[in-house]
Amino acid sequence: LALSWVATLPPSALEEHGVAKASVNGISVALYAVDGEYFATADLCTHGKASLADGYLDGDLIECPLHQGTFNVKTGEAVDAPCSVAVRTFPVKLQDGVLHVGWEG
Ligand code: FES
Repeated sequence: LALSWVATLPPSALEEHGVAKASVNGISVALYAVDGEYFATADLCTHGKASLADGYLDGDLIECPLHQGTFNVKTGEAVDAPCSVAVRTFPVKLQDGVLHVGWEG
């Protein structure tokens, strides 16, 4: 599998401690700003049909807007119930002023 980098949003689209949604190869991805670093997960909660980009980012935890479960945005680990299945994570790098998400496939 080769890693390809897909351009998404400029960092200015994200507030500090903010989250935004982008499309990567037809999949919705949530991008997070945490203490000057950027992280990405699949946007779809693994518990139900909710967009994590509509959730609330507290430190490195994203709280799902539907049932308030949480995931660690750095590892994808499900932290608080009812979330129990990890969410997919993606590498992020800043290149030419745009956040790029690494896609393996
Ligand atoms: Fe996300 Fe239920 S849909 S916690």
